[in-house]
Amino acid sequence: MGVSGVGKSTIGQLLSEELSIPFFDGDDFHTAENVEKMSGGTPLTDGDRIEWLNSLNQLAIREIEKKGCIIACSALKEDYRSILTNGIENESNWIFLSGTYDQVDTRLQQRQNHFMSSELLQSQFDTLEEPKEAIKIDIGQTPNDIIEMIKNELVKKSEFGLVGLGVMGKSLSRNLAQKGFQLSIFNRHVDKEEVDVASNFKASHKELETSLAFDDLKSFVDSIQKPRKIMLMVNAGKTTDSVIEDLLPHLSPGDTLIDGGNSHFEDTKARFDDLRSRNIEFIGTGVSGGEEGALKGPSIMPGGDPVVYETIRPYLEAIAARDANGLPCCTYVGPEGSGHFVKMVHNGIEYAEMQLLSEVVGILKSHGSSYDEIAQLLESWEESKSYLQEITISILRKREGEGWLLDKILDKAGNKGTGNWTAVATAKLGVPSTMVTSALYARYLSFYKDDRVRAQALYPSERDDEKSISHADLFKAFQFARMINHSQGFRLISEASRVNSWDLNLSEIARIWTNGCIIRSDLMVELIEVLRKGDNILFDETIVGKLGDLASSANIIVSHCISVSIPIPCLSEAINFFNGIRTAGSSANLIQAQRDYFGAHTYQRVDDPLGQFHHTKW
Ligand code: 6PG
Repeated sequence: MGVSGVGKSTIGQLLSEELSIPFFDGDDFHTAENVEKMSGGTPLTDGDRIEWLNSLNQLAIREIEKKGCIIACSALKEDYRSILTNGIENESNWIFLSGTYDQVDTRLQQRQNHFMSSELLQSQFDTLEEPKEAIKIDIGQTPNDIIEMIKNELVKKSEFGLVGLGVMGKSLSRNLAQKGFQLSIFNRHVDKEEVDVASNFKASHKELETSLAFDDLKSFVDSIQKPRKIMLMVNAGKTTDSVIEDLLPHLSPGDTLIDGGNSHFEDTKARFDDLRSRNIEFIGTGVSGGEEGALKGPSIMPGGDPVVYETIRPYLEAIAARDANGLPCCTYVGPEGSGHFVKMVHNGIEYAEMQLLSEVVGILKSHGSSYDEIAQLLESWEESKSYLQEITISILRKREGEGWLLDKILDKAGNKGTGNWTAVATAKLGVPSTMVTSALYARYLSFYKDDRVRAQALYPSERDDEKSISHADLFKAFQFARMINHSQGFRLISEASRVNSWDLNLSEIARIWTNGCIIRSDLMVELIEVLRKGDNILFDETIVGKLGDLASSANIIVSHCISVSIPIPCLSEAINFFNGIRTAGSSANLIQAQRDYFGAHTYQRVDDPLGQFHHTKW
């Protein structure tokens, strides 16, 4: 675009050759009436131009579906440009060829068979409304230089940006670059602590050779093609908010931010709403797999607007792990914070799976097995194969000097909060996901090391090392507890989906958890089919067949462990939950009676089919 005489056709044609996309001169598309008017020397009105501008817009839409194109058109007014890019605002780029009146006048005079009165040229300058969002090119340079500049601006810009080069951000950047995406990467500068992080990282990895590295936020944002797609891999909470605040002044309407951190789903919803009101799109995505997963293929759980998701889908799907059918372990989860909710529950399930493994190892150790023997036993448990089981085996075999590394690790389990959030969320929703809560409290209890040392001396346990356990029963108890854990986790997701009207697809969530993530397992593969049939794992006929058999072993193991004072919070919770759920007539009637007794809270009666609430004067 630009006034007559700036060289739109020349530059357009050169650029078209350079980019191998077609060139169209807008003037060739005028209606017959317009052509007649112009050749009669009558200037066109805005009304005359509408049909013409619409036809150019249609042309652009058709060409975008192919390879795109270059259209030369003076497009002097903002209104004209809005018609021209109507519906393709995000896919269009304006290149504004800009010159002074004298520059253009001199050029026009040099052209053969071209005459434009100085009044007419001046009127073009008067009409020109300079575009805000355009690549502005000074025409006082050679056409080749101009083409080079446009290419630099247009073609060489990055298609994807990533903020935050911590462990996960680094791995994801490398993964994206390995998939051939042109990247811009950013890490903040903190004196003496974080200096040249992005450029040093780029320099140390060959696949990042063509990536652009920044520690200046504005230059980083400017280096990305619009509408921008920027992934944030920064700490959840305040850091995420402050990074978004810092980015906002540099962003343009229609840009998308993707939060790949472990953010709380309610924060994600709030950010989604806030950014929507500022015309910035927001996708909150769970990313699981740790450092290695992020590099080789994580499981990705994005939530937000489905239309916006489509624009970032090629990137996320390309870097995700593959399931057994070669499909990406990445799917649109649902609206607003649902992606982060699902990731949170993933971590809740992870907490209980880890705790169960540590209880199994604890039981075997208490019964005299060596780490090598335990590793060997776990290795033989083929039917329960999982990533966490695999890493446990290799941890058990890790030696340091004469002994085992595991024995040198202090028994205080840390956490970053997602297990806590899951426990809170399940309590808020009134869903009895008791295993994550038990696993969480087991970690908290582990932290009371001093108290444990003191209490052991005060209350020595009556361990009976003579009693042995059956490995077959232990294996069954472990499988049983894992099924209960998964049933509780998916029940929590299903309830959140119902309450928030998220319409989540549980089977698809199980599918994207079959690879890349921390809780990938053979059981998860089995659950894809189970959850296709219904939301409640416990009522699936194949599971019913298995659980019934496994439960008796769980009973044996749990009662044995209690009798010899081995702490097994998660294993015992599994059997307690199971016994609770399979008790049709529970003792909760007494709770209701007590509530009514002291607080007149009323109760429902089994002999009142209307389900009304009654009160008794006790
Ligand atoms: C994953 C992990 C990952 C991380 C958690 C663990 O899916 O890749 O869950 O998100 O390891 O932060 O959290 P804790 O520190 O609370 O165990």
